Parts: sequence; C-alpha cells; structure tokens
Amino acid sequence: VTAPQGPWRAVEVLDEVDSTNRVLRDRAVDGVEPGLVVVAEHQTHGRGRLDRLWESPRSTGLTFSVLLRPSAPRSSWGWLPLLAGLAVAETLTDHVGLDATVKWPNDVLIDDRKVAGLLVEAVAHDGAVIGIGVNTHLEAEALPTPVATSLILEGAPADAINRASLLTAVLLHLHERMADLDRGPTAEAMAAYRMRCSTLGRHVDITVPGGQRIRGTVADIADDASLVIDVDGHGVRHVAAGDVVHLR
Ligand code: BTN
Repeated sequence: VTAPQGPWRAVEVLDEVDSTNRVLRDRAVDGVEPGLVVVAEHQTHGRGRLDRLWESPRSTGLTFSVLLRPSAPRSSWGWLPLLAGLAVAETLTDHVGLDATVKWPNDVLIDDRKVAGLLVEAVAHDGAVIGIGVNTHLEAEALPTPVATSLILEGAPADAINRASLLTAVLLHLHERMADLDRGPTAEAMAAYRMRCSTLGRHVDITVPGGQRIRGTVADIADDASLVIDVDGHGVRHVAAGDVVHLR
C-alpha cells in the first residue's frame, strides 16, 4: 500500500495488533511525526466508543488509524470526528457507489444500518488519532448486531472494496475534510455534514455522559458541532456528547 497525496507520510501494515488506535497513541507519546497511517489485518482488542469493543474477524474489515496534528483551535475540534465520518461516507458514495449517511457524532450508515465506526482520541503533542473501522466483507452471520451491515451485503462491487484501494480513497477524502477543519471549519464542510446527516430531523433517544436520557427531535447541528434537541415537551437543549439511538 502506498500513501496517496496529502499529509500522509507512510502507511504501515501490521498483521495482528490489539488496536491500531493504541499503537498510534503510543507513537504520539514517543514524539512520532503526524501523517502516519497504521492498518491491521486483524485487531485482537479493537476499541470502540464508550469503552465498547470493535470486533471484526480477520480480513473482513478495513481497520486503520491515522495520526494528525490539526492546526484548528481546540474550540473547533468538536467537528473533527464529524468531518472524519463525513469523509468516510463520501468515500462510500464516490468510490463504492453506495448511498451512505452519517449518524451523529460519527457512525456511517447505509439504510440506517452501521457500516463503519470511528473513534477519535486527542493524544500527546497536540495530536489526534482517528481510528476507522469499515465492515467490508462481513457476511450476515458474522454481523455483531442486527443494526450492522457490510459493504458486500449492500451489494458493493468486489474491486471497489478491495481494502487497499478503499484505504487510498478514504485517505484522499480525509485529507480534504481535515483541511476544511483547519480552515475553520468551512461553511461548505458544515453544510455537507448537515446534508448527509441522517440524525437531523429524527426522533432520537440520547444517553448523555452521566447516564441521563433525553428523548426529542433533532432540530439542528449547531456551529459548535453539538446537537440541538427539541426535547419532548421541555424546550430546546444542546448536547455536545452522547450515545444516540434513532427511533422509528
Ligand atoms: C465505534 O463505532 O464505537 C468506533 C469503532 C472504531 C473502530 C476502529 S478499528 C481501527 C481503530 N482501532 C481501534 O482500536 N478502533 C478503531
């Protein structure tokens, strides 16, 4: 695998590792330069959001992480996971030909089923690790939950989901959207996220940090990347972090 244009210095392919996010976290502490991409054929302890596990049998997914040093101020880092998810969704449309949406904050869905997840972590030396897991070749019996799917199950053509070519395509889109983040984020990038966000306008159930649950309709995604919720019967509330369930 060769690195495409952009900030990507090198792509390291590992056969087996606990978690590619963990590898880059440690490398960041050691002072490695940003632009490094680490891909794994198999993760033994892939990490998801909220301390969940990201399980994917060997060679059935594209699992990788990148180390970046965004120049955007921390106040706009709320957009980092959102725009990274947008880059993945855009890749699935442009490169694979599937209609993908983003679920706030950063899942990628096809037909309301999760096809990719992202875990973004702030790391040493003003770095950010963006970890991306895409279900490419998972068959129905191997799906981790009934609300998951894979590119092959959605009918993607085999050549488009060759993992090396998919990785190159994601890195190109990620390069562009991370450049948009560093520029503001740009109004175009925020508008593109809102357009593709299937959480917008939905009736949702959100569990916020601390465990409180909120039910309401998503009225907007604010300029600080938080969700604006019309809470059922109780006015408007901004939610900056949480676990969202799309209700029917
Ligand atoms: C989620 O949906 O909760 C996030 C899943 C993120 C999984 C990816 S796979 C590559 C990278 N390494 C990890 O340990 N996690 C991310």
